[in-house]
Amino acid sequence: MLNYRNELDKMPSYDGVEKNYRIKVNANESTLSLPPLVEERVLNRLALLAFNRYPNEEYYSLVEQIARNFSVDAAQILLGGGSSEIIEKVFHTFGGAGRKIVFPQPSFSMYKIYAKAAEADGVTFDLDARFDLDVDAFIAKIREIGASLAVVCNPNNPTGNVLTPAQVEKIAASIDCAFLLDEAYVEFYGRSAVNLVAKYPNLLVARTFSKAYGMAGARVGYMIAQAEVTRMVNKTFMPYHLNVLSLAAADIVYQMRDEFVPRLQMTIAERQRMKERLETLSGVEVFPSEANFLLIRLSRAEELKDYLETLGIGIRYFSPSAFGLKDCLRISMGTRAENDEVFAAIKNFLEVPL
Ligand SMILES: Cc1ncc(COP(=O)(O)O)c(C=O)c1O
Repeated sequence: MLNYRNELDKMPSYDGVEKNYRIKVNANESTLSLPPLVEERVLNRLALLAFNRYPNEEYYSLVEQIARNFSVDAAQILLGGGSSEIIEKVFHTFGGAGRKIVFPQPSFSMYKIYAKAAEADGVTFDLDARFDLDVDAFIAKIREIGASLAVVCNPNNPTGNVLTPAQVEKIAASIDCAFLLDEAYVEFYGRSAVNLVAKYPNLLVARTFSKAYGMAGARVGYMIAQAEVTRMVNKTFMPYHLNVLSLAAADIVYQMRDEFVPRLQMTIAERQRMKERLETLSGVEVFPSEANFLLIRLSRAEELKDYLETLGIGIRYFSPSAFGLKDCLRISMGTRAENDEVFAAIKNFLEVPL
């Protein structure tokens, strides 16, 4: 019999379902790949790579660009295989047996899994019925349980709502433990808390190339924190954990990030347009969102998800056991044409008599 690690069989798995959808608005990805000009530069760069060498130069080139952009020291930046790797390592840094890691729910479903993987207790804090976080009560909870790490996703996935920079600062200032702010969707909101890192030694900010920069396939993310924190988190990483292809691609993408502004604006405009259209449908509740997706609630959510699948449209449905997300669906923003098709399909579904 194979002797697996204790508790591994009880480890929950990521519950996203992936299929080959014709219109894929289920995973909060960018619906567009790289802008043609950026893609051309990436491909030219890849042709020049030294595949025989470990990726030092490419790692530090990207680190330095990011540091320059945020006016921080290069020692304050860590890169990861998506922000997933960053978040997982931060959980390992502050986790361990008997430690408590607290995060709101509903939020990114992986936090629970990372807490378990770090052998820590994942402690959830319930958002209210509108998915807002009671900041004072959250701070009180962190203190009361003596958490070693608090995690907040801003804008929050899957709800789309946000904390203001002042609320983020209040949390950072009021707790002694580490505070990880997951800013995977912050480019669609525009109000990052990276500038607070200089003031708060407990603040760690995780960012990603997967969403706004359309690079989910390359798996590149980064963390910004004070140098001492970064040094400690870095101990949990393997050497050369990022491959040279992804690093070189991200380096070009970051150099050319202005090329992404029009599509960011498009996504934000589409979010507003889709929100207004969905709000015209009776029985559909649309939650406010500052991310690249919208969360809706309607009584026949599962049936609608199945109907859309028959049309080749993939949206995110949450299992009935997911806290606070009963009858909810999450729809990432596609192109205008894709969104029109998704909307028409939802409208059609709701017009068919039961
Ligand atoms: C809130 C949040 N954080 C982090 C991630 C991880 O993204 P990645 O590893 O691609 O950077 C995701 C992915 O969907 C997410 O929704």
